Amino acid sequence: MSEKNLRPPEEMNRVVPLHDQFDRPLHDLRISVMDRCNFRCPYCMPEQKYHKDFQFMSADKRLSFKEIVRLAKLFAGLGVHKLRITGGEPLLRASLTDLIAELAAIEGIDDIALTTNGVLLAQHASALKVAGLNRVTVSLDSLDPQIFQQMSGGRGSYEQVLEGVQEASLVGLVPVKINVVVKRGVNDHTLVDMVEKFRGTGIIVRFIEYMDVGTINQWQRSDTLPARDLLAMLSEHYSLVPAERNYHGEVASRYVFTDGTGEIGFINSVTEPFCGSCSRVRLSSDGKLFTCLFASGGLNLREPLRNGMADNDLLSVITSTWGKRTDRYSELRARDAAPADKVEMYYIGG
Ligand code: GTP
Ligand code: 5AD
Ligand code: SF4
Ligand code: SF4
Repeated sequence: MSEKNLRPPEEMNRVVPLHDQFDRPLHDLRISVMDRCNFRCPYCMPEQKYHKDFQFMSADKRLSFKEIVRLAKLFAGLGVHKLRITGGEPLLRASLTDLIAELAAIEGIDDIALTTNGVLLAQHASALKVAGLNRVTVSLDSLDPQIFQQMSGGRGSYEQVLEGVQEASLVGLVPVKINVVVKRGVNDHTLVDMVEKFRGTGIIVRFIEYMDVGTINQWQRSDTLPARDLLAMLSEHYSLVPAERNYHGEVASRYVFTDGTGEIGFINSVTEPFCGSCSRVRLSSDGKLFTCLFASGGLNLREPLRNGMADNDLLSVITSTWGKRTDRYSELRARDAAPADKVEMYYIGG
């Protein structure tokens, strides 16, 4: 056993504040539990590539719940208090509620959210709530049936997604948030309908600037509708005023309706990058740790986990990775100096 492994157990549970090279703390762990998805959004998993014969990861490559929980406990000890479960589509992972229950029991974790496309949500919402999930964020790009089909790659229906949203609200997975990826010329003409549908319901719609994640979506700057243009467009219909962020590092800029019917948000990762306050780390379903959504590679934690590495040594590896972190891709993109090789969104989660 190395000297580090002699650290007393009571010290293992102490929260050690961890900062990267730009003094950004680590608060938020996003765990992808499944690389598959039941949608084929053309900007994420285009059908031509992810067809019926595509070889996805085999189940043994995925971290087991035991391995995920072990890592989540270590991260909680390093200051992580917020978990987000992502995919692909996380509700495709069998017995996900068992994992949620174990994660909810970890000391120091005070917020567990799930990002889903919503199609399987109605059937799982109640059990997820009982297991300890706090809230859900549902991806829904349009309420226009044709545009929805176009953006989901012809899978699912917006009615199923709305059922999921309704059930999640009913069982208290709140606030339910709706993530709308805005692609110029594709769904921008359907966004007022989206606002209208959810205004006054407590459900928070957030518009995401279409980004150059991964390598397959052939992003062009002209595909992104700058949030300021969208705000100007929505302001022709609604009276909106900016609101304070809920917490330091929140990715969405919030706007409230002056008539008290709620709020909407804008996630302006392209035109107003928020790397300066980025406290997120991402774990892929096969156990790689990514310190940026746009990273080209990740740190393999599955191998050391399966080779019996002790907790203290895993902690050292993680601590040193975060300590060296200099990622700020979205700021570099703004200067057109970004690397080209990037991990795919379905593999790493949003
Ligand atoms: P709350 O916890 O509800 O505030 O939400 P969140 O900050 O966890 O946001 P969510 O996971 O719903 O993220 C919404 C979208 O914002 C994601 O799907 C991404 O498109 C984008 N996003 C989130 N985090 C990052 C990030 O670190 N970098 C970039 N560039 N985009 C991000
Ligand atoms: N740009 C912005 N958001 C994206 N998402 C997937 N691909 C992109 C992209 N290129 C969103 C999904 C979902 C979340 C996981 O990430 O729609 O809301
Ligand atoms: Fe699936 Fe989400 Fe990717 Fe669409 S964006 S294919 S729902 S993982
Ligand atoms: Fe964080 Fe990377 Fe996104 Fe910047 S681009 S906010 S560093 S994940």
